[in-house]
Amino acid sequence: MQNSDDKLKKVIAHSKEYGFVFPSSEIYDGLSAAYDYGQYGAELKNNIKNYWWTAMTRMHQNIVGIDASIFMHPTTWKASGHVDAFNDPLIDNKDSKKRYRADVLLEDYIKKIEQKIDKEIEKAKNKFGESFNEEQFRATNPNVLRNQEKINAVEGKMKAALESSDLEGLKTLIEECEIADPETGSRNWTEVRQFNLMFKTELGAVSGDAGIIYLRPETAQGIFVNFLNVQKSGRMKLPFGIAQIGKAFRNEIIARQFIFRMREFEQMEMQFFVKPGTEMEWYNYWKDTRIKWHKALGMGEENYKFHDHLKLAHYANAACDIEFNFPMGFKELEGIHSRTDFDLGAHEKHSGKKLRYFDPETNESYVPYVIETSIGLDRMFLATLSAAYEEEKLEDGSERVVLRIHPALAPVKLAVLPLVKKDGLPEKAQEIVDSLKLDFNLQYDDKDAVGRRYRRQDAIGTPYCITIDYDTIQDNTVTIRDRDTMQQERVSIDKLHSILSEKVSMTKLLRG
Ligand code: GAP
Repeated sequence: MQNSDDKLKKVIAHSKEYGFVFPSSEIYDGLSAAYDYGQYGAELKNNIKNYWWTAMTRMHQNIVGIDASIFMHPTTWKASGHVDAFNDPLIDNKDSKKRYRADVLLEDYIKKIEQKIDKEIEKAKNKFGESFNEEQFRATNPNVLRNQEKINAVEGKMKAALESSDLEGLKTLIEECEIADPETGSRNWTEVRQFNLMFKTELGAVSGDAGIIYLRPETAQGIFVNFLNVQKSGRMKLPFGIAQIGKAFRNEIIARQFIFRMREFEQMEMQFFVKPGTEMEWYNYWKDTRIKWHKALGMGEENYKFHDHLKLAHYANAACDIEFNFPMGFKELEGIHSRTDFDLGAHEKHSGKKLRYFDPETNESYVPYVIETSIGLDRMFLATLSAAYEEEKLEDGSERVVLRIHPALAPVKLAVLPLVKKDGLPEKAQEIVDSLKLDFNLQYDDKDAVGRRYRRQDAIGTPYCITIDYDTIQDNTVTIRDRDTMQQERVSIDKLHSILSEKVSMTKLLRG
């Protein structure tokens, strides 16, 4: 069985080789945690956006979409709490000059002890076979107990230090655990400092602090500040939602695991404004709706789980993540948060403008409560790609790499392949391309043997290929090949449009 590191490496290599994702500015050796989407990546990304946007807006008559600017008035970020509290604890190694997140160093230390426990259990499992009782072993084995105690102690101290922003405490803990720079082994650490994750830049004509402006670290605030504009101009009645897709920027101290954690990324966020008191009902509605959206893609029901936040942010009264089984294990893909009236209330306070809803049913004005759904587009892309990637041994002993992407999301829907480059077959194939190309993204390919052309299409996840042969000229039929089953069927060219419309239909996916 391949391990998870191998799988991620393979997905990264495949993404580059087949035009999905390239390292940014690669000719200059790249820029860490920045990536470019290639020709198939851009198509896949657009299809994911379309799936989300349609599910959010068209399927909900009371949700509209906006596109706010990345730059916002700097007070926005004071009100949202990002200026004061959007920090990570940072520590530098004086010898290697490498920078780390203090909490991540500690988490990695804990993971190593967990691995020791796992090894101990594995050894015992092999020794005792069928009769092995893991629960009992964990509760009694002295090595496991000692290591578990160590984990509990470090976790407890780390949690306390993080909660009270005790930076000295974090440094002391790193020293107590004798944590060394993972790259060089040096223990020559600086003090721990708070590091704000927002990127700063300056506004054109203004110099100094007055001109400081931020690249937005989330798209949500563009929605909050437009709450009243949208409500009034759209005559929206509560409950209603505002959706947005756009870039966000965070100066992550450690950005790693490919496009999972980047410094420039894209979010798809929706704020759903509700009457105070009804928020838990809507929170549950959105949990249910969002998990269905994910599961409809057929990426394996077992690959999702909800993770409830035990420690809630001061403004939230419920929050959870939808975690996906990435090659690195279960990790956050989407957040669903009940944010109360915190954001609108804070913007009221800082702007001096009322951000209230007049409820015609009760004749009252109030600040609505908000349920937020927030998903990283790039993470969704990685989830899609890694779930789709498969190395398959075929009956004839050969191997293929196939991306089993849902046909509605696949970057190319159809490949049109003339069997040979003569006798009118290319012209016939081109005719088919011209008749379908405005409705479907398709590709014409006449290079190499048909088998190799199939492999190329499998590798980019094209759900269907048609082959134009000598019979086509006689009877206007082609063979259509299914990516997943590799079965071929003879169909009339006149039926191609309707067959494809049905097979790659986003509407069908949305209807469930
Ligand atoms: N408005 C709420 C918010 O921004 P978040 O949990 O910080 O909440 C929401 O981010 C989602 O954005 C995450 O679930 C994740 O999918 C994505 N995300 C956050 N930071 C990211 C990063 N550095 N790179 C890629 N995606 C990221």
